[in-house]
Amino acid sequence: MLIAIPDVLTPAQTAEARALLEAADWVDGRVTAGHQGAHVKNNRQLPQNSEAGRIVGEMILRALSNNPLFMSAALPLHVLPPTFNRYEGGEAFGNHVDGAMRFLPNGQRMRTDLSCTLFFSEPDEYEGGELIIDDVFGSKSVKLPAGHMILYPSSSVHQVTPVTKGARVSSFFWLQSMIRDNAQRALLFDMDVAIQRLTGEVGATNPSVVQLTGAYHNLLRMWGEV
Ligand code: NI
Repeated sequence: MLIAIPDVLTPAQTAEARALLEAADWVDGRVTAGHQGAHVKNNRQLPQNSEAGRIVGEMILRALSNNPLFMSAALPLHVLPPTFNRYEGGEAFGNHVDGAMRFLPNGQRMRTDLSCTLFFSEPDEYEGGELIIDDVFGSKSVKLPAGHMILYPSSSVHQVTPVTKGARVSSFFWLQSMIRDNAQRALLFDMDVAIQRLTGEVGATNPSVVQLTGAYHNLLRMWGEV
């Protein structure tokens, strides 16, 4: 399931973040690729200790924790601090899958269930640089407006095509969901969307809304990891 989360950042936040990122020092992206990814990855990244990266990363995480669509679609348990990459002059990231495990800042391991890419460049500022994601329904090409984010299963094969003109700046990070299984998470998301819509139509105290909400939470209790 691929889910676009529009307007994670406001235009003002996006502009502020871009100014910080443009002034930052970028390094070769292969340092974080791991032994399996280094040969397909060709881009630049902000180093782990980057002050600009820390400030913008916190801005993103704060915005996401207040974003109902993100919370409902991802049901996040652990979210890694965002990292940042930049592609230009033909740089690309060939077909790959993301590693299954990552370390949280406190040293605890987490499983990567969902990958997130938040765009900082507008689509008309660069050529190429499509995020191509293979999912069960075929291959999807993703290029979103600045401030928007795509959420996709970390297990899916994906790539970033060469940026042939301009520069593509984005943030990427991983999360562990309370719901490990993609199909179960998709079902809960569908249910939540329907419950929200029904609540808007008939009110939160309507018996059907209460019953469906109870069923949603019982499924979350049954499947959720905390
Ligand atoms: Ni990847």
